[in-house]
Amino acid sequence: KSVEFQNNDGVNNLSKEDKELVLRLPRVKGWDFSFLYQYQGFWCPPKFFHGILSFQRHFQAKDTDIVLVTFPKSGTTWLKALTYTIANRSRYTLENTPLLTTPSHDLVPFTDLEIYSKNQSSILEDLPTPRILATHLPYASLPHSSINSNCRIVYLCRNPLDQFTSYWHFVLQPQPADPVSIDEAFEKFCQGVTMFGPVWDHELGYWKASLEKSNNVLFLKYEDLKEDIIYSTKKLADFIGCPFTNEEEAQGVIEEISKFCSFDNMKNLQVNQTGKLAHFGMETKAFFRKGKVGDWTNHLTPSMSKRLHNLMEEKFGESGLMT
Ligand code: A3P
Repeated sequence: KSVEFQNNDGVNNLSKEDKELVLRLPRVKGWDFSFLYQYQGFWCPPKFFHGILSFQRHFQAKDTDIVLVTFPKSGTTWLKALTYTIANRSRYTLENTPLLTTPSHDLVPFTDLEIYSKNQSSILEDLPTPRILATHLPYASLPHSSINSNCRIVYLCRNPLDQFTSYWHFVLQPQPADPVSIDEAFEKFCQGVTMFGPVWDHELGYWKASLEKSNNVLFLKYEDLKEDIIYSTKKLADFIGCPFTNEEEAQGVIEEISKFCSFDNMKNLQVNQTGKLAHFGMETKAFFRKGKVGDWTNHLTPSMSKRLHNLMEEKFGESGLMT
């Protein structure tokens, strides 16, 4: 995984015009990638540009699309599994769902980083309705057709303290040749220098969109899902247009789906213990670490957490996002 992560050749694979575009952007040394370029206000690894630029330029949204968006390490794997299971429950039971043998990341690949990156956009036309798509892009960088369509966007946010802690472990596993210290990583993270960062801009972008366009943008929190998964699963199903019937509720279908997608169940599936992701080649087990709220207390010093709390107060301010 670390080889893939530290591969910075992406820029050389771009067309001449796109290479010129990228090379004009501000560039910094990252802690997660050797280099990050600042594009449309977020920090982007070189190898992501091809997929992102093609997605932004060519993607045609459909009103029936469901777009799953997260800041990395905020629960993407979970959101993909839940949404896939809810939307496909008339096609598959929990006994024969493809999730038993295929990682949720491969069932709901990133539209930009995987599908467009591999020039495979034609497969989007063959996806069953509703299409379930995924991206880490900030709201302002979504393709125009997604913003202008009536598609439904589900954003899953996570407390930046836990998100950073999760990402730091993810980057360090397996040990890269040149491991970064948590102090250095944290410093860069606080400066916003992290893939798709700054995290506050990302979360605020979708938060504001969810307030302005509540029919189109659902804002969920990892912590709320952990606290009451039944309520959140129901809310998600309603929002994506696949509500549970009274009969399903009475039969306990919501509980069954929530339990199936839970951390303990997903982590213990063979596919998530020994599998690898088709596109990125990473081991699936890297996406299942602890799955807890508040693990940051075991890794961040009091001064680090104070600094991040202060930054969150400053950045989220009166937005209402922290309440
Ligand atoms: P931790 O590292 O804190 O354990 P992403 O899917 O966006 O890459 O995020 C990964 C984080 O989500 C990891 O957090 C991982 O353990 C957690 N996670 C994965 N599947 C989960 C699930 N079904 N329920 C809760 N958390 C899950």
